[in-house]
Amino acid sequence: MFPYTRHRRLRNSQAIRSLVSETQLSVNDFIVPLFIVEGENVKEEIASMPNYFRYSLDLIETEVQELWSLGLKSVLLFVKAEEDRKDNQGAEALNPDGLMQRAIKTIKKAVPGILVMTDVALDPFSSFGHDGIVENGEIINDETADVLAEMALSHAQAGADFVAPSDMMDGRILQIRTKLEQEGYTNTGIMSYSAKYASAFYGPFRDALDSAPVDAKDVPKDKKTYQMNPANRKEALSETLADIEEGADIVMVKPGLCYLDIIRDLANEVDLPIAVYQVSGEYAMLKAAAEKGWLDHDSVMLEQLTAIKRAGASLIASYFAKDVAKLLKA
Ligand code: PBG
Repeated sequence: MFPYTRHRRLRNSQAIRSLVSETQLSVNDFIVPLFIVEGENVKEEIASMPNYFRYSLDLIETEVQELWSLGLKSVLLFVKAEEDRKDNQGAEALNPDGLMQRAIKTIKKAVPGILVMTDVALDPFSSFGHDGIVENGEIINDETADVLAEMALSHAQAGADFVAPSDMMDGRILQIRTKLEQEGYTNTGIMSYSAKYASAFYGPFRDALDSAPVDAKDVPKDKKTYQMNPANRKEALSETLADIEEGADIVMVKPGLCYLDIIRDLANEVDLPIAVYQVSGEYAMLKAAAEKGWLDHDSVMLEQLTAIKRAGASLIASYFAKDVAKLLKA
């Protein structure tokens, strides 16, 4: 009872605060998302993601070498497909000599130890900007899952360590796992975007890849028939348990900050590692506020990432990964 109990004793100096800190950010926590484009000597800043870039394959080599030297050991690859390579079936996704397949090989060659994870979904290759095949105004589930399994196999064949299906079709983890096992890729991991919400925070990412759903007749204008309703909590657990049952190695909550309750729910119920994707809109929001001088960039960045980890994240995919790694090193 007061005055003998004084909570402030444990906050009196940096030393005691560090000693009793329950949550530590480490460079080991992070996955670095990378955007890849065709061409040579391309490093273009994404307008809605200040200080974040698309790289051509020649420049990605030095970038991953730098990440590795900062202690960042995992990357998550996204490619920006050329407009004339897009169709409704996402056929380019299966091209053994496609940009993704070449990116995997280039990065593995540049830094053999780096963990290469690849995005599996049709949207960068879809002429309609959807994660699956569109038919009569709908995203057709089972046919899409078949293509996704082929896409995952193609990434594994190119040397991907983990495939990361971000599409939210039902049953695709089972399809992918079965295909990988049948073809002998028994060591290829699956990081499933298991609780992915239909969020408005993905806007800058869709700018980065030019992958937003197109405005056309008989094409759904949003992804709400496959991504989850932000109003729902229990569904996140059943989605995630199903993906685990189907063969996921790592599960995911996406986005981060608006979904801390979901992260905590899963952390309490699930034994597999839980990845959290702090998405493009979360990055853009802080960059914009910091640019205006309204928020202190580094403090808010660390506070947000600490909150995500405190909520129960075992690993975090974040556009801030490099900034954090540099800060932790300093
Ligand atoms: C699409 C995909 C998206 C993101 C990762 N994979 C966007 C979407 O679902 O429309 C978003 C990542 C981000 O916003 O940083 N399969």
